[in-house]
Amino acid sequence: MSRFARPFAEALAPLVELPVADVEKQLETPPKPGMGQLAFPCFQLAKTLRKAPPAIAEDLASKIQPTGLIKKVIATGPYVNAYLDGEAVAREVLPAALEAGECFGSLSIGGGRAVTVDYSSPNIAKSFGIHHLRSTVIGHALVNMLKAAGFQPVGINHLGDWGTQFGQLLAIWDEKGDEAELNERGIAYLLELYVEFNAAKEKNPELQDVARAKFRLLENGDAEARRLWALFRKVSLDEFERVYAMLGIQFDDMRGESFYEGLMPAVLTELKERNLLTESKGATVVDLEAFDLGTALVRKADGSTLYLTRDLASAGYRKESYDFVRSLYVVGGSQALHFAQMTKVLELMERPWFDTIEHVPFGLMRFKDRKMSTRKGDIVPLRDVLEQAAALAKQTIVKGAEDKSRPIPDDVDELAHRIGVGAVVFNDLKNRRVRDVVFDWDEVLAFDGETGPYLQYTAARIASMEARYGKPPSADVDFHLLDGPGELALIVAISEMPDSLQRGLESCEPSYVSDKLLEIASLFSTLYSNRSWKVLSEDVALTDARMLLAHGVRQALCNGLGWLGIPVPARM
Ligand code: ARG
Repeated sequence: MSRFARPFAEALAPLVELPVADVEKQLETPPKPGMGQLAFPCFQLAKTLRKAPPAIAEDLASKIQPTGLIKKVIATGPYVNAYLDGEAVAREVLPAALEAGECFGSLSIGGGRAVTVDYSSPNIAKSFGIHHLRSTVIGHALVNMLKAAGFQPVGINHLGDWGTQFGQLLAIWDEKGDEAELNERGIAYLLELYVEFNAAKEKNPELQDVARAKFRLLENGDAEARRLWALFRKVSLDEFERVYAMLGIQFDDMRGESFYEGLMPAVLTELKERNLLTESKGATVVDLEAFDLGTALVRKADGSTLYLTRDLASAGYRKESYDFVRSLYVVGGSQALHFAQMTKVLELMERPWFDTIEHVPFGLMRFKDRKMSTRKGDIVPLRDVLEQAAALAKQTIVKGAEDKSRPIPDDVDELAHRIGVGAVVFNDLKNRRVRDVVFDWDEVLAFDGETGPYLQYTAARIASMEARYGKPPSADVDFHLLDGPGELALIVAISEMPDSLQRGLESCEPSYVSDKLLEIASLFSTLYSNRSWKVLSEDVALTDARMLLAHGVRQALCNGLGWLGIPVPARM
């Protein structure tokens, strides 16, 4: 809801005898710009006042004096509608947007406080599949958004570089591992071995014991096991780094699960001293049945520790290292129980900050009719997806140039890369994160519709108008020329950028930002698709005013896309 809602709520509050905040929450946006910008529904009051809603609306409307940004107030059926003064709103919003530039929309609510964001966190020796895309993309957006809101984000990649799967790899490696092939084929080879291990295990279940023994060797520091593990880790990291470079991502803290091995004894000792441990079939667990959270396994019968044990250690380590005010874990919804158990155990360990831990879950991602699972080896590597997106974008650019008999731009590859990455990233972030994402190539890369390329294209189109305009936009314009209902709706949407950032952070939901960007782009397109509405024209005063507006649109789009981690091409 727009920040212009407050004055209207303040005027209504004493009349309806409700706190301003309550009234503000009830305000709605009317369905059409011609019906004003804010509407107060009178249905609830009808009960207490024993009057028909339209009569209440009439009465309230007659009692509110238009002032400041509110130009008129009229009853429309059961609603009290407020019309903002377009000229005043434009004057308030657009010069400020111009002035703020790259900072437009930012907030200073963070006060430099630290927030850790655990994201991406792929598993070593398994290829970086499209299923890790979601964590990577959502986490990166949250990091950027936190920064824009004045927090000190700490992006953490909690690499899955420890655990029984390394025992499995070492077991199959003994039988057929080939270092030359590993060096040549990298992670694809490791993945193949992993799949082979699982196939062999189906026939020969004892292999699982071999794997367990191998992992023990690794945990006990066996030199050869460690050497191979380090090699697997490096080969995997090389691949991950290529993907991060494509997405423009850098982590502040890239610490694998293996790092926490040394902290395991202290965690287990403390749990024991606090009487939190029980034995169950030789394994050690924390009984959380009383909280409906099952039993949390912290040490296996063979003595090895688990994912959960390492997460207990890493949570404390992060608190000590960064003193976070929030600690986010951007991990798929299937791990909800894991994080609930972790948080509960930290509470039982009397860590007062346990409730600043937030699991940020998300839905699945799938191709139109293809499931992905590492165990069967049927996964789509993310790098292939990004490369294919760039290749398809390049085809579109080349075809577009040919159709218009224009030369193909020199930097076509860079351009195609930005469009391809933007398309894939936006496709992920445009929906509420808990929903599943369906990946459909045609839809993802379309230049119209709710896509990344559409937003990039809108920004680039304005950039080229600005270039033709030939001078920097000025805030010294006749604001009266911007008071049409279409312009007003657009300017209000632009002014809501900081709200979308704030709400997006409150609920770890980048889609608040993507929604706002789509709204801004589509309101601009609506104006622009009207043949008689042009930004650049003979009319100098009108051109100046509309250029300032168009610049505000571009600034909002560029900044918002930046928060989402989407590159903006200078032109398209
Ligand atoms: N490596 C894990 C996986 O791919 C995700 C780790 C998430 N972070 C954490 N601290 N548990 O499932």
